[in-house]
Formats: sequence, C-alpha cells, structure tokens
Amino acid sequence: MSSDKSAVTGILDELNRLVGECESALGQASSLDAVEAARVEFLGRKGRLAQAMSAMASLPGEDKPAVGKAANEAKARLNELLDEAQQARKRAAAAAAYADFDPTVPGRAPLPGSLHPVTLAMEEVATIFQRLGFEVVAGPEVENDWNNFEALNMPPDHPARDMQDTLYVTDSILLRTHTSPLQVRTMLAKKPPVAIIAPGKVYRRDSDLTHTPMFHQIEGLLVDTRTSMGDLRGVLAHMCRKLFGEDTRTRFRPSFFPFTEPSSEVDITCSICKGEGSCKGSPCRVCKGTGWIEILGCGMVDPNVFASVGYDPEKYVGWAFGMGVERIAMLKYGIGDLRMFFENDLRFLGQFC
Ligand code: PHE
Repeated sequence: MSSDKSAVTGILDELNRLVGECESALGQASSLDAVEAARVEFLGRKGRLAQAMSAMASLPGEDKPAVGKAANEAKARLNELLDEAQQARKRAAAAAAYADFDPTVPGRAPLPGSLHPVTLAMEEVATIFQRLGFEVVAGPEVENDWNNFEALNMPPDHPARDMQDTLYVTDSILLRTHTSPLQVRTMLAKKPPVAIIAPGKVYRRDSDLTHTPMFHQIEGLLVDTRTSMGDLRGVLAHMCRKLFGEDTRTRFRPSFFPFTEPSSEVDITCSICKGEGSCKGSPCRVCKGTGWIEILGCGMVDPNVFASVGYDPEKYVGWAFGMGVERIAMLKYGIGDLRMFFENDLRFLGQFC
C-alpha cells in the first residue's frame, strides 16, 4: 500500500479541528463539571481523539509516523487546555468563596467562662481561713469505712451511721458522706499543731427538694496543746461576718456528733430579714420566721478520735467544724432553689461572672 495523501490530510484536519473545538468548548465551560464533560468528550475512551486515531489504523505504514506524531501533539495540547481550564475554574471558585469574606468584620467574642457559685463560696471560705494561717487540703471522694466512720468514733452498727446512709463500692469502701475523713487523714499524716480547711464533694443517699445525692462541704480542724471552744466561737463568728457582713450575729446551740464532744450547731442571723423574722409584716420564708439559719456543725475533737489517729488525748486539744457549701452560696447570693446549682443553665451561671 502506498501513501494515501487525502486520508492523511483528512486525519490531520480532524486533529486540528478537534483542538480548536476543544478550545472553544472550554471557553463556554463555566464550571468544573463542564470542563470534566469536555475532557470526556475529547480525551475519553470513545472520545473525539480516540475516534480520529482509530482512523489511523487503515493508513499505510509509511504515513503512520507523521500522523501518530500529530496525534500525540494534539493529545498533549488537549491535556494542556483542559488542565489550564480546570485550574482556572478552581481559582474562580476559591475567589468566589472569598468574595463574601470581609476581614474587617469584628470576630465573634467567645463567651467568658465563670466560676460556679459553689466554687466561689468554697474559695471565699478557704481564703478567709488561709488568712488565719490554715492550710487547704483535699482528699479522695472514694473513702474507706475506717476514715469515714470508724476513726471518727462511729463503729459498725453505730446509729449515727444511719443519718449518713451512703453509696458503698464494697463492704468497706464508700463514697465519703462528709469531709470529716480529712480530719483523720491529716492527723495520720502529720503531728500537731494542725490547722486545715478541706473543701470538697460528699455523697449521701438523699434526694428531694432540699437534698441532692452529691453536695459540697468544707471541713475545718485545729489541733494544738492549747485551744478552746472560745477560739472556735471567735473564728467561726469572724468567718460569718466576713461571709455575710459585719452585722451578722452567730449563736451556738448544743448538738451531738460522735466525733466531737461537746458538740454544737451554729446559726447565723438570717441574711434576708436581718434576724427580724419577718419581711414587710409577713414571716420571713427563708428562716421560717425565726430570724436564725443553721449553717454548720462543730465541736471539740473527741478524745477517742485522737486515740484512733495516734495523738495523745492528754496532751492535745482541738476543734472541728463542717458546713454545707450550697447552703452558704444560697444565703450569700440569694438563691431560692437548690436545684439551680445542678441544672447548668447558663442564664443562672452567667450571673456569677
Ligand atoms: N461531718 C459533720 C456532718 O457532715 C459535720 C461536722 C464536722 C460536725 C466537724 C462536727 C465537726 O454532719
């Protein structure tokens, strides 16, 4: 077979046309999808280039190199055109995305966090005592029975345990029912003099309008060779004045705790009715018309507790107190409902910034 000029020219013309048509198709293609469609149309397996090349098969051998070269050049040119068009569409899409972006618009300020009112109250009490020279200590919420009860003069089956029915992990491991195990842990760890304050979470099997299964307490303990219930009174009265205002009065009522003797409960004058018992002629609802509110339990450390931690009861005296933090925060910030502390409502929490 000798050279077939017209067939060669036909294929070369078609290759030129094809490149030209691809160029004008891309001129119209406004999206990446349209560019992809053109790629399929011209370079696809059954596309225009493939068709032109299949016509090559019937050419005589001597014509093939020149036509093959032209076909390769056309293919390279098509690839170039399509890649360029693809890049251009990508750049245009990115530019469009930024068109709406105004770098001069002020950013959205992140909401400032704030401390929980219970944390605020705990920190305030801790600070009052730190200024008096007390050290802040912490201990585990999962305690052993000995630290929580037994060393505190509450042997197994002691009726006082009933008031603090709790959540047991095993027979002898439990969620602490009060912060008083910190008294035990501190005295086991160091020699007198001791002056500590221990804020933390405690757990009881209690749940109603005024009790939650988890709440917070602050424990205080002072042990030395000389101290008295008078010191305890003075320190607690000082704390109450700092917390609730200089005109706050305190009163001690006899009470009972297995780990203190004598024991007392402390009331403060109601911060709502200022101890009057009534607000605008009707009985104060916060103190139920009495003018007083109970805020803590306290007493002189029982010698049995000293004995169980290895302190000489003949040599040392001490006093301790424990108070509920939610109660303090409610009185201090005028919060009427205990449940608000646990609902995580930002409208409530945001008021303590
Ligand atoms: N731990 C007692 C309670 O939770 C309070 C208390 C502490 C009383 C220290 C006296 C001394 O009720």
